[in-house]
Amino acid sequence: HHVVAIVPAAGIGSRMGACKPKQYLTLLGQSILAHTLDKLLSHPQINQVIVALHPEDTEFAALPQAKHPKLVTVIGGSERADSVLAALDKAPDNGWALVHDAARPCLTAQDIDKLLASRVHFPQGAILAMPVRDTMKRANSLGEISSTVCRDNLWHALTPQLFPTSLLRLHLKAALAAGAVVTDEASAMEWAGISPGLVAGRADNIKVTHPDDLELAELFLLRANA
Ligand code: CTP
Ligand code: MG
Repeated sequence: HHVVAIVPAAGIGSRMGACKPKQYLTLLGQSILAHTLDKLLSHPQINQVIVALHPEDTEFAALPQAKHPKLVTVIGGSERADSVLAALDKAPDNGWALVHDAARPCLTAQDIDKLLASRVHFPQGAILAMPVRDTMKRANSLGEISSTVCRDNLWHALTPQLFPTSLLRLHLKAALAAGAVVTDEASAMEWAGISPGLVAGRADNIKVTHPDDLELAELFLLRANA
């Protein structure tokens, strides 16, 4: 089965508040996006990598991976889901799409393997996720606790998220056209009545979002290289 990795990298990193989009900040001597692309390009089961870039991107061409034969770029959109859809439009119809945030550079081959292997159990797709660890509270409008949410069945959604390419394209398009809230690929599939699988991923597969996350990601990358 053909597997295409889709990498939304068209965001501006407003919460990071750096002088450039966070995917171009450097960790251990190379940019976050370069780390992410290395993990995907070097995986033997990934045939192609499609990266969605901001229309005014000025940095991608200088990455060491920019001319890799497996790599294709497209112009992303105003929301993450628009960027994913733009990339999906360039993907072959048959096979699988593995969507992974540019901002998650600590992904391991082990987690990719685990998600790819889950296709046997989840023919309509699955996502990497982490069981919630803390006690969860629901707030009222005054910022007080209104209740404790049972965490038994609560998970954090991570990426990669893996779906049959044509199924994901169909439902993502429809969900966006209907104005559904689509913050990840699974939510578009859920909107269409599908129940994607949950595959327990590693805790170090963090999304670099706030400045604090940079140090943590560097630590995880160091540990993985040790
Ligand atoms: N992304 C994208 N296209 C967008 C918005 C986001 O491709 N229009 C990508 C980001 O580059 C990132 C991933 O989606 O790799 C996850 O998004 P997020 O962490 O929210 O990144 P940003 O949107 O860049 O950050 P912020 O929300 O803080 O502005
Ligand atoms: Mg964002």
